[in-house]
Amino acid sequence: MAPGRLHSSAAAQHAPVTVRVPAKINLYLGVGASRPDGYHDLTTVFQAISLYDEVTVTPAGRLVIDVSGEGAAGGVPRSSDNLAARAARLVAKAARAKGGVRFNLVKGIPVGGGMAGGSADAAAALVGCDALWKAELPPARLHALAAALGSDVPFLLSGRTALARGRGEQLAPVLSRGVYHWVLGLDAEGLSTPAVYAELDRLRAIHPPLPAAGPDGVLAALRAGDAVALGRALHNDLQSPALRLRPRLRRVLETGRDLGALGTLVSGSGPTCAFLARDANDATRIAAAVAGMGVCRTVRRAHGPVAGARVVP
Ligand code: C5P
Repeated sequence: MAPGRLHSSAAAQHAPVTVRVPAKINLYLGVGASRPDGYHDLTTVFQAISLYDEVTVTPAGRLVIDVSGEGAAGGVPRSSDNLAARAARLVAKAARAKGGVRFNLVKGIPVGGGMAGGSADAAAALVGCDALWKAELPPARLHALAAALGSDVPFLLSGRTALARGRGEQLAPVLSRGVYHWVLGLDAEGLSTPAVYAELDRLRAIHPPLPAAGPDGVLAALRAGDAVALGRALHNDLQSPALRLRPRLRRVLETGRDLGALGTLVSGSGPTCAFLARDANDATRIAAAVAGMGVCRTVRRAHGPVAGARVVP
């Protein structure tokens, strides 16, 4: 083989890989009792939505993490504690790959917003390192590595819509018709997920909860492609504790209701609030009105469901 060919194939082996990964919202989030391992059993319906992080993986002598974009100034660890770095170590071990990587994380998912931004980067890092090192790990192996990294990471590999149980890692696909249009109201400060779960436990110790309705209403609405029914069925057990810890979110949810959103809820452990709109035009109208009222730091629009972490060609 001519030296030029050798050189270009070696370069191709090390060409940077960019992965695009979506945010998630929980259309239904039922939280069970706390478990001995500190987690809670969940029943949740995830939908992946069109707010994206872009994660570029490049070979490097050591681990480097660069962050830019939405909320990049604070909150995203640059060290080996970053979930993306932990994901790289897991893939390196599974693929017996040597050497470090540089991650460029371009954040479009709000940091600390209850939309799984850190988990999304971990899912992207798994897919990106697998492609970079040509590991071709089977999907079940990637799923197992994802579950070791965090409760939301397995869903962000697949995306679309899924029913999850366990601590969020046991996934079953859900039949979902149509496109759903969302307005997201972002708060100025993140909320700690463990703190919101702890507040739920504290509230439940005082007022034991009534038996939960379950996800059937949400699943039926998705099957039918009925946005009005979905708006009525949205439910999140973490909403009350999130509102206790961040009372100003009540005003944000009220604003969405007053503007005629089909449904409103705190996303995951918050503090992002999600409003379901009738269609794309309605989402534009609601987003503009919410932005004009100054109740949120910033307002975004997104649609779902969308695919999970994918290499950008
Ligand atoms: O799995 P992940 O690291 O995303 O979870 C963050 C925290 O959220 C956990 O440490 C735990 O406090 C809480 N959590 C929980 N039950 C779950 C998922 C998360 O209590 N099913």
